[in-house]
Amino acid sequence: MRTIITNIRQLLQTHDNNAPARIAGADMDNVPHIENAWLIIENGIIHSYGSMTALPAAANADEHIDATGSLVLPAWCDSHTHLVFAAPRDGEFVDRIKGVSYEEIARRGGGILNSARKLNEMDENLLYEQSMERLLNVMAQGTGAIEIKSGYGLCLEGELKMLRVIRRLKESVPIPVKASFLAAHAYPIEYKQNKAAYVDLIIDTMLPRVAGEGLADYMDAFCEEGFFGVAETERLLEAGWKYGLKPKIHANQLHYSGGVQVGVKHNALSVDHLECVGDAEIASLLGSNTMPVLLPAAAFFLGIQYQPARNIIDAGLPVCLATDYNPGSCPSGNVPLLTSIACTQLRMTPNEALNAVTINGAAAMELEQTMGTITPGKKANLIITKPMSAFSQVPYDFGNNPVKRLIA
Ligand code: NIG
Ligand code: FE
Repeated sequence: MRTIITNIRQLLQTHDNNAPARIAGADMDNVPHIENAWLIIENGIIHSYGSMTALPAAANADEHIDATGSLVLPAWCDSHTHLVFAAPRDGEFVDRIKGVSYEEIARRGGGILNSARKLNEMDENLLYEQSMERLLNVMAQGTGAIEIKSGYGLCLEGELKMLRVIRRLKESVPIPVKASFLAAHAYPIEYKQNKAAYVDLIIDTMLPRVAGEGLADYMDAFCEEGFFGVAETERLLEAGWKYGLKPKIHANQLHYSGGVQVGVKHNALSVDHLECVGDAEIASLLGSNTMPVLLPAAAFFLGIQYQPARNIIDAGLPVCLATDYNPGSCPSGNVPLLTSIACTQLRMTPNEALNAVTINGAAAMELEQTMGTITPGKKANLIITKPMSAFSQVPYDFGNNPVKRLIA
Protein backbone atom coordinates (compact mmCIF):
# COMPACT_ATOMS: atom_id res chain seq x y z
CA MET A 1 0.00 0.00 0.00
CA ARG A 2 1.52 3.28 -1.13
CA THR A 3 0.12 6.70 -0.22
CA ILE A 4 1.34 10.01 -1.57
CA ILE A 5 0.52 13.33 0.09
CA THR A 6 1.10 16.33 -2.15
CA ASN A 7 0.92 20.14 -1.94
CA ILE A 8 1.76 20.15 1.77
CA ARG A 9 2.03 23.78 2.79
CA GLN A 10 4.69 22.94 5.39
CA LEU A 11 6.10 19.54 6.23
CA LEU A 12 7.36 19.94 9.80
CA GLN A 13 9.99 18.14 11.85
CA THR A 14 11.89 16.77 8.86
CA HIS A 15 15.04 14.98 9.95
CA ASP A 16 17.06 12.80 7.60
CA ASN A 17 18.19 9.40 8.70
CA ASN A 18 20.31 10.82 11.51
CA ALA A 19 17.42 12.18 13.59
CA PRO A 20 18.59 12.99 17.13
CA ALA A 21 17.04 11.03 20.01
CA ARG A 22 15.87 14.21 21.73
CA ILE A 23 16.16 17.98 21.40
CA ALA A 24 17.49 20.13 24.25
CA GLY A 25 18.14 23.73 25.24
CA ALA A 26 18.32 26.42 22.55
CA ASP A 27 17.83 23.81 19.80
CA MET A 28 14.25 23.34 21.00
CA ASP A 29 13.28 26.59 19.30
CA ASN A 30 14.18 25.16 15.91
CA VAL A 31 11.91 22.88 13.86
CA PRO A 32 13.34 21.80 10.50
CA HIS A 33 10.73 21.94 7.76
CA ILE A 34 10.09 22.06 4.02
CA GLU A 35 7.65 24.44 2.32
CA ASN A 36 5.38 23.09 -0.43
CA ALA A 37 6.25 19.45 0.02
CA TRP A 38 5.25 15.89 -0.84
CA LEU A 39 5.56 12.76 1.27
CA ILE A 40 5.28 9.08 0.36
CA ILE A 41 4.13 6.40 2.82
CA GLU A 42 4.70 2.74 2.07
CA ASN A 43 2.94 0.11 4.20
CA GLY A 44 2.61 2.49 7.13
CA ILE A 45 6.24 3.64 7.04
CA ILE A 46 7.58 7.01 5.89
CA HIS A 47 9.30 6.22 2.59
CA SER A 48 10.50 9.59 1.32
CA TYR A 49 9.66 13.27 1.13
CA GLY A 50 10.75 16.34 -0.75
CA SER A 51 9.81 19.62 -2.34
CA MET A 52 6.96 19.81 -4.89
CA THR A 53 9.45 21.39 -7.28
CA ALA A 54 11.07 17.97 -7.44
CA LEU A 55 8.13 15.55 -7.29
CA PRO A 56 9.34 12.14 -8.48
CA ALA A 57 7.85 11.47 -11.92
CA ALA A 58 7.09 7.85 -11.11
CA ALA A 59 5.22 8.73 -7.94
CA ASN A 60 2.11 6.66 -8.62
CA ALA A 61 0.28 5.45 -5.53
CA ASP A 62 -2.77 3.55 -4.26
CA GLU A 63 -3.97 6.63 -2.41
CA HIS A 64 -3.37 10.28 -3.25
CA ILE A 65 -4.05 12.92 -0.60
CA ASP A 66 -4.03 16.55 -1.69
CA ALA A 67 -2.99 18.55 1.39
CA THR A 68 -3.29 21.99 -0.17
CA GLY A 69 -3.25 24.63 2.60
CA SER A 70 -2.41 22.12 5.34
CA LEU A 71 0.61 21.38 7.49
CA VAL A 72 1.81 17.81 7.94
CA LEU A 73 3.70 16.85 11.07
CA PRO A 74 4.42 13.84 13.30
CA ALA A 75 1.46 12.86 15.47
CA TRP A 76 1.66 13.83 19.14
CA CYS A 77 3.49 11.46 21.48
CA ASP A 78 1.65 11.80 24.82
CA SER A 79 4.00 10.14 27.31
CA HIS A 80 1.98 10.47 30.54
CA THR A 81 -1.71 9.62 30.93
CA HIS A 82 -4.11 7.85 33.28
CA LEU A 83 -6.66 7.34 30.51
CA VAL A 84 -8.12 4.14 31.99
CA PHE A 85 -10.49 5.20 34.77
CA ALA A 86 -14.05 4.41 35.81
CA ALA A 87 -15.78 7.71 36.47
CA PRO A 88 -15.39 11.47 36.43
CA ARG A 89 -14.72 13.36 39.70
CA ASP A 90 -16.59 16.57 38.99
CA GLY A 91 -17.94 16.64 42.57
CA GLU A 92 -14.38 17.16 43.81
CA PHE A 93 -13.88 19.76 41.09
CA VAL A 94 -16.71 21.77 42.61
CA ASP A 95 -15.29 21.26 46.13
CA ARG A 96 -11.95 22.63 44.95
CA ILE A 97 -13.65 25.68 43.44
CA LYS A 98 -15.13 26.28 46.88
CA GLY A 99 -11.68 26.19 48.45
CA VAL A 100 -10.90 22.60 49.46
CA SER A 101 -7.41 21.68 48.27
CA TYR A 102 -6.48 18.62 46.18
CA GLU A 103 -4.39 17.34 49.11
CA GLU A 104 -7.23 17.85 51.60
CA ILE A 105 -9.62 15.93 49.32
CA ALA A 106 -7.09 13.10 49.22
CA ARG A 107 -6.73 13.13 53.06
CA ARG A 108 -10.51 12.79 53.37
CA GLY A 109 -10.44 9.56 51.32
CA GLY A 110 -11.44 11.19 48.03
CA GLY A 111 -9.17 11.77 45.06
CA ILE A 112 -7.26 8.70 43.92
CA LEU A 113 -9.03 6.52 46.52
CA ASN A 114 -12.39 7.66 45.14
CA SER A 115 -11.28 6.57 41.66
CA ALA A 116 -10.01 3.26 43.06
CA ARG A 117 -13.36 2.42 44.68
CA LYS A 118 -15.19 3.05 41.40
CA LEU A 119 -12.66 1.18 39.30
CA ASN A 120 -12.71 -1.90 41.50
CA GLU A 121 -16.51 -2.03 41.22
CA MET A 122 -16.53 -1.73 37.44
CA ASP A 123 -16.76 -4.62 35.02
CA GLU A 124 -13.59 -5.03 32.94
CA ASN A 125 -15.41 -4.94 29.59
CA LEU A 126 -17.16 -1.69 30.44
CA LEU A 127 -13.86 -0.20 31.63
CA TYR A 128 -12.33 -1.18 28.30
CA GLU A 129 -15.18 0.31 26.27
CA GLN A 130 -15.13 3.62 28.13
CA SER A 131 -11.36 3.86 27.89
CA MET A 132 -11.45 3.02 24.18
CA GLU A 133 -13.83 5.90 23.61
CA ARG A 134 -11.39 8.27 25.32
CA LEU A 135 -8.50 6.88 23.32
CA LEU A 136 -10.30 7.34 20.00
CA ASN A 137 -11.20 10.86 21.07
CA VAL A 138 -7.57 11.86 21.73
CA MET A 139 -6.51 10.21 18.48
CA ALA A 140 -9.01 12.46 16.69
CA GLN A 141 -7.13 15.35 18.33
CA GLY A 142 -3.85 14.08 16.88
CA THR A 143 -2.37 11.70 19.44
CA GLY A 144 -0.35 9.05 17.62
CA ALA A 145 1.44 7.33 20.54
CA ILE A 146 0.46 7.19 24.18
CA GLU A 147 1.53 5.96 27.60
CA ILE A 148 -1.18 4.82 30.01
CA LYS A 149 -0.77 4.07 33.73
CA SER A 150 -2.43 1.73 36.16
CA GLY A 151 -2.84 3.11 39.68
CA TYR A 152 -6.59 3.14 40.32
CA GLY A 153 -6.68 -0.51 41.38
CA LEU A 154 -4.42 -0.29 44.45
CA CYS A 155 -4.87 -4.04 44.96
CA LEU A 156 -3.64 -7.00 42.96
CA GLU A 157 -6.88 -7.70 41.08
CA GLY A 158 -7.61 -4.03 40.38
CA GLU A 159 -4.12 -3.30 39.08
CA LEU A 160 -4.18 -6.41 36.88
CA LYS A 161 -7.60 -5.40 35.56
CA MET A 162 -6.32 -1.98 34.55
CA LEU A 163 -3.19 -3.35 32.93
CA ARG A 164 -5.19 -5.93 31.00
CA VAL A 165 -7.46 -3.18 29.74
CA ILE A 166 -4.37 -1.23 28.63
CA ARG A 167 -3.12 -4.33 26.81
CA ARG A 168 -6.47 -4.73 25.02
CA LEU A 169 -6.36 -1.07 24.01
CA LYS A 170 -2.86 -1.60 22.68
CA GLU A 171 -4.03 -4.55 20.61
CA SER A 172 -7.00 -2.60 19.22
CA VAL A 173 -5.51 0.66 17.93
CA PRO A 174 -2.92 1.40 15.24
CA ILE A 175 -0.80 3.60 17.53
CA PRO A 176 1.92 2.53 20.00
CA VAL A 177 0.66 2.20 23.58
CA LYS A 178 3.04 1.87 26.54
CA ALA A 179 1.94 0.76 30.02
CA SER A 180 3.27 1.90 33.40
CA PHE A 181 2.64 0.10 36.69
CA LEU A 182 1.54 2.66 39.28
CA ALA A 183 0.25 0.72 42.27
CA ALA A 184 2.28 3.23 44.33
CA HIS A 185 -0.23 5.98 43.54
CA ALA A 186 -1.88 6.25 46.99
CA TYR A 187 -2.12 4.12 50.14
CA PRO A 188 -5.41 2.16 50.38
CA ILE A 189 -7.32 3.09 53.57
CA GLU A 190 -6.59 -0.27 55.18
CA TYR A 191 -2.84 0.40 54.90
CA LYS A 192 -2.86 4.01 56.17
CA GLN A 193 -1.46 2.87 59.52
CA ASN A 194 0.96 0.39 58.00
CA LYS A 195 2.38 1.92 54.88
CA ALA A 196 5.39 -0.40 54.69
CA ALA A 197 3.02 -3.34 54.34
CA TYR A 198 1.49 -1.81 51.19
CA VAL A 199 4.94 -1.26 49.68
CA ASP A 200 5.70 -4.90 50.54
CA LEU A 201 2.48 -5.98 48.83
CA ILE A 202 3.45 -4.10 45.67
CA ILE A 203 6.98 -5.50 45.66
CA ASP A 204 6.34 -9.08 46.80
CA THR A 205 2.95 -9.84 45.29
CA MET A 206 1.93 -7.39 42.56
CA LEU A 207 5.23 -6.82 40.73
CA PRO A 208 5.96 -10.53 40.12
CA ARG A 209 2.46 -11.02 38.64
CA VAL A 210 2.56 -7.85 36.54
CA ALA A 211 6.02 -8.64 35.22
CA GLY A 212 5.20 -12.35 34.85
CA GLU A 213 2.28 -11.54 32.56
CA GLY A 214 4.35 -8.93 30.69
CA LEU A 215 1.73 -6.30 31.44
CA ALA A 216 3.95 -3.25 32.05
CA ASP A 217 6.80 -1.44 30.34
CA TYR A 218 7.62 0.97 33.18
CA MET A 219 7.57 1.34 36.96
CA ASP A 220 5.88 4.45 38.32
CA ALA A 221 5.40 5.90 41.82
CA PHE A 222 3.81 9.12 43.12
CA CYS A 223 6.82 10.48 45.03
CA GLU A 224 5.26 13.24 47.11
CA GLU A 225 4.75 14.35 50.70
CA GLY A 226 1.72 12.50 52.05
CA PHE A 227 2.05 9.84 49.33
CA PHE A 228 5.29 7.89 48.73
CA GLY A 229 8.43 9.33 50.29
CA VAL A 230 11.95 9.11 48.88
CA ALA A 231 12.78 5.98 50.90
CA GLU A 232 9.65 4.13 49.73
CA THR A 233 10.21 5.31 46.15
CA GLU A 234 13.77 3.96 46.23
CA ARG A 235 12.55 0.54 47.36
CA LEU A 236 9.93 0.50 44.62
CA LEU A 237 12.29 1.58 41.85
CA GLU A 238 14.95 -0.93 42.85
CA ALA A 239 12.31 -3.66 42.84
CA GLY A 240 11.02 -2.54 39.43
CA TRP A 241 14.51 -2.68 37.95
CA LYS A 242 14.86 -6.30 39.12
CA TYR A 243 12.04 -7.11 36.71
CA GLY A 244 13.45 -4.92 33.96
CA LEU A 245 10.91 -2.13 34.50
CA LYS A 246 12.54 1.26 34.01
CA PRO A 247 11.30 4.01 36.31
CA LYS A 248 9.08 6.78 35.01
CA ILE A 249 7.87 8.63 38.07
CA HIS A 250 5.61 11.39 39.39
CA ALA A 251 7.94 13.92 41.02
CA ASN A 252 7.91 17.39 42.57
CA GLN A 253 4.27 18.22 41.83
CA LEU A 254 3.27 19.70 45.18
CA HIS A 255 6.57 20.01 47.07
CA TYR A 256 10.34 19.92 46.68
CA SER A 257 10.03 16.24 47.54
CA GLY A 258 13.39 14.89 46.38
CA GLY A 259 11.54 13.02 43.63
CA VAL A 260 13.66 14.42 40.80
CA GLN A 261 16.90 13.43 42.52
CA VAL A 262 15.70 9.94 43.39
CA GLY A 263 14.48 9.43 39.82
CA VAL A 264 17.83 10.50 38.40
CA LYS A 265 19.69 8.33 40.92
CA HIS A 266 17.74 5.29 39.70
CA ASN A 267 18.15 6.09 36.00
CA ALA A 268 14.53 7.02 35.43
CA LEU A 269 13.48 7.36 31.82
CA SER A 270 11.54 10.44 32.90
CA VAL A 271 10.52 12.47 35.93
CA ASP A 272 7.08 13.99 35.45
CA HIS A 273 5.10 17.00 36.78
CA LEU A 274 7.96 19.25 38.06
CA GLU A 275 6.04 22.24 39.35
CA CYS A 276 8.59 22.43 42.20
CA VAL A 277 11.93 22.63 40.44
CA GLY A 278 14.86 24.80 41.50
CA ASP A 279 18.61 24.87 40.95
CA ALA A 280 19.26 21.57 42.76
CA GLU A 281 16.73 19.69 40.60
CA ILE A 282 18.11 21.25 37.41
CA ALA A 283 21.68 20.39 38.42
CA SER A 284 20.63 16.81 39.05
CA LEU A 285 18.91 16.52 35.65
CA LEU A 286 21.90 18.04 33.85
CA GLY A 287 24.06 15.09 34.84
CA SER A 288 21.58 12.53 33.53
CA ASN A 289 19.65 11.08 30.60
CA THR A 290 16.37 11.45 32.48
CA MET A 291 13.75 13.40 30.54
CA PRO A 292 11.98 16.25 32.39
CA VAL A 293 8.28 15.87 31.51
CA LEU A 294 6.08 18.87 32.31
CA LEU A 295 2.31 18.46 32.83
CA PRO A 296 1.03 22.04 32.78
CA ALA A 297 -2.59 21.12 31.95
CA ALA A 298 -2.75 19.51 35.41
CA ALA A 299 -1.32 22.66 37.01
CA PHE A 300 -3.92 24.66 35.05
CA PHE A 301 -6.81 22.50 36.22
CA LEU A 302 -5.65 22.42 39.86
CA GLY A 303 -4.85 26.13 39.86
CA ILE A 304 -1.35 25.54 41.22
CA GLN A 305 1.97 27.06 40.17
CA TYR A 306 3.26 26.24 36.70
CA GLN A 307 6.50 24.44 35.86
CA PRO A 308 9.57 26.65 35.33
CA ALA A 309 9.99 25.56 31.71
CA ARG A 310 12.16 28.56 30.80
CA ASN A 311 14.70 27.82 33.53
CA ILE A 312 14.84 24.17 32.47
CA ILE A 313 15.29 24.89 28.76
CA ASP A 314 17.64 27.80 29.34
CA ALA A 315 19.84 25.49 31.43
CA GLY A 316 20.31 23.42 28.27
CA LEU A 317 17.93 20.59 29.19
CA PRO A 318 15.26 19.01 27.00
CA VAL A 319 11.61 19.48 27.94
CA CYS A 320 8.80 17.07 27.13
CA LEU A 321 5.13 18.02 27.54
CA ALA A 322 2.40 15.49 28.28
CA THR A 323 -1.28 15.78 29.16
CA ASP A 324 -1.59 13.71 32.40
CA TYR A 325 -5.15 12.86 31.24
CA ASN A 326 -6.90 11.65 34.45
CA PRO A 327 -10.20 12.21 36.28
CA GLY A 328 -8.74 14.24 39.16
CA SER A 329 -6.11 16.73 38.12
CA CYS A 330 -6.58 16.86 34.33
CA PRO A 331 -9.72 15.46 32.72
CA SER A 332 -8.43 16.30 29.24
CA GLY A 333 -6.10 14.50 26.87
CA ASN A 334 -6.14 17.37 24.41
CA VAL A 335 -2.56 17.96 23.23
CA PRO A 336 -3.34 21.03 21.10
CA LEU A 337 -4.80 22.71 24.21
CA LEU A 338 -1.73 21.58 26.18
CA THR A 339 0.47 23.47 23.71
CA SER A 340 -1.64 26.61 24.28
CA ILE A 341 -1.10 26.37 28.04
CA ALA A 342 2.63 25.74 27.55
CA CYS A 343 2.98 28.80 25.32
CA THR A 344 0.83 31.21 27.33
CA GLN A 345 1.70 30.13 30.88
CA LEU A 346 5.15 28.52 30.64
CA ARG A 347 6.35 30.97 27.98
CA MET A 348 7.49 28.21 25.71
CA THR A 349 7.61 29.14 22.04
CA PRO A 350 5.40 27.19 19.61
CA ASN A 351 8.52 25.52 18.20
CA GLU A 352 9.60 24.45 21.69
CA ALA A 353 6.12 23.10 22.35
CA LEU A 354 6.17 21.19 19.07
CA ASN A 355 9.50 19.55 19.89
CA ALA A 356 8.20 18.80 23.39
CA VAL A 357 5.14 16.86 22.14
CA THR A 358 6.78 15.05 19.23
CA ILE A 359 10.45 14.06 19.37
CA ASN A 360 10.85 14.50 23.13
CA GLY A 361 7.52 12.80 23.79
CA ALA A 362 8.73 9.84 21.74
CA ALA A 363 11.98 9.74 23.74
CA ALA A 364 10.02 9.74 27.03
CA MET A 365 8.42 6.45 25.88
CA GLU A 366 11.55 4.98 24.23
CA LEU A 367 9.90 5.38 20.83
CA GLU A 368 12.57 7.65 19.35
CA GLN A 369 13.58 5.03 16.78
CA THR A 370 10.08 4.86 15.30
CA MET A 371 8.15 8.03 16.16
CA GLY A 372 8.43 11.77 16.69
CA THR A 373 10.02 13.03 13.47
CA ILE A 374 9.46 12.91 9.72
CA THR A 375 12.28 10.51 8.92
CA PRO A 376 12.36 7.75 6.28
CA GLY A 377 11.91 4.40 8.01
CA LYS A 378 9.86 5.76 10.93
CA LYS A 379 6.18 4.98 11.42
CA ALA A 380 3.93 7.22 9.36
CA ASN A 381 1.78 8.34 12.30
CA LEU A 382 1.07 11.83 11.04
CA ILE A 383 -1.24 14.78 11.48
CA ILE A 384 -2.70 16.60 8.50
CA THR A 385 -3.92 19.91 9.90
CA LYS A 386 -6.86 22.00 8.88
CA PRO A 387 -5.74 24.86 6.61
CA MET A 388 -3.24 27.13 8.41
CA SER A 389 -0.07 28.98 7.52
CA ALA A 390 2.22 28.05 10.41
CA PHE A 391 2.38 25.75 13.45
CA SER A 392 2.03 28.75 15.79
CA GLN A 393 -1.68 28.74 14.86
CA VAL A 394 -2.12 25.47 16.78
CA PRO A 395 -1.44 26.95 20.27
CA TYR A 396 -2.91 30.29 19.17
CA ASP A 397 -6.30 28.88 18.18
CA PHE A 398 -6.79 27.49 21.67
CA GLY A 399 -9.67 25.16 22.41
CA ASN A 400 -10.19 24.25 18.77
CA ASN A 401 -9.09 21.05 17.09
CA PRO A 402 -6.46 21.76 14.41
CA VAL A 403 -6.49 18.17 13.14
CA LYS A 404 -8.12 17.40 9.82
CA ARG A 405 -6.92 13.83 9.75
CA LEU A 406 -4.70 11.52 11.78
CA ILE A 407 -2.87 9.00 9.66
CA ALA A 408 -1.86 5.92 11.67
O1 NIG B 1 -0.56 12.88 37.79
N1 NIG B 1 -0.39 13.25 40.97
C1 NIG B 1 -0.73 12.07 40.98
N2 NIG B 1 -1.49 11.43 40.11
C2 NIG B 1 -2.26 12.04 39.08
C3 NIG B 1 -3.60 12.46 39.54
C4 NIG B 1 -4.40 11.33 39.93
C5 NIG B 1 -5.78 11.68 40.36
O2 NIG B 1 -6.03 12.72 40.99
O3 NIG B 1 -6.63 10.84 40.07
C6 NIG B 1 -1.52 13.19 38.45
O4 NIG B 1 -1.86 14.37 38.60
FE1 FE C 1 0.00 11.63 36.41
